[in-house]
Amino acid sequence: MAERTYDRTTQDVGNLVALEHVNVTVPDQELAALFYVTGLGFTRDPYIDFGTMNMWVNVGGQQFHLPKSKAQVVRGTIGLVVPSLAELTGRIGRLLKTYGARFDGSAFSCEEAGDQTLAVTCPWGNRLRVHEAGDGFGGMRLGMAYVDLDVAPGTATGIARFYDELFGAPASVGATAGGAPRAEVRVGCHQLLCFSETEAEIPAYDGHHVAVYLANFSRPYAALGERGLITLETNDSEYRFTDIVDPDSGQLLTTIEHEVRSMFHPLFGRELVNRNPTQRITAYHPGEDSYVGLTHAGLG
Ligand SMILES: [Fe+2]
Repeated sequence: MAERTYDRTTQDVGNLVALEHVNVTVPDQELAALFYVTGLGFTRDPYIDFGTMNMWVNVGGQQFHLPKSKAQVVRGTIGLVVPSLAELTGRIGRLLKTYGARFDGSAFSCEEAGDQTLAVTCPWGNRLRVHEAGDGFGGMRLGMAYVDLDVAPGTATGIARFYDELFGAPASVGATAGGAPRAEVRVGCHQLLCFSETEAEIPAYDGHHVAVYLANFSRPYAALGERGLITLETNDSEYRFTDIVDPDSGQLLTTIEHEVRSMFHPLFGRELVNRNPTQRITAYHPGEDSYVGLTHAGLG
């Protein structure tokens, strides 16, 4: 009988251990709460409170950070997973029945996108692709599975090398559904940071950011520093950079601020409160208020 063999590389975790939040400023906290909390069914962080100046919204083990300011729009798609798309569409229907007028004239939209997904656009134009939980994304039930950014033609290979060589994050070049090159950077066990080439015009970068945790914090810092790419020395456990460059030529490939945290950062691994959004006054089930699943920041 042939001895069974295993591809052990499938079990490797790279140096990017978690994609923890996406930060986009929003001009209207009330409308943001209606969209992210009431409509999508996510949970306002009950512990880190900013009054009406900012809001952190938990999605399983990840978050949206939504400070109040002129709207920012991620140049790409944020991939989310929820337990049930039927529940989600029902919730959005009820939202619009009561608050539909608040969304008039905004960029909000929600439509079926096939393959058990919904394409949802926030009131300011951020594109979300919401997947129903299944076998994909490592069995994730609720969370942010990926961020897929639009980049210029001819940049995907260099971007993959940037993450692979400077960060020690396994990265390869695959293809989008339309066949365009896409850099796919592995994050932790089940998340991806992607960069999809597009012929479409890409808007100017507006300052939004993503937050990632690194296992080896200092080596990428040194590599970025050698190239003059560190933009902010926040504190012991955080620095930032914004430009992604070809590792050899230094040519700018794309721009998105990364809030880079070490695993010593006090927020790493904190348990994020997630509610069960199917609980309603008219359909209440005692003992089922909490979402049951992985909810540790960076580990979910
Ligand atoms: Fe942040």
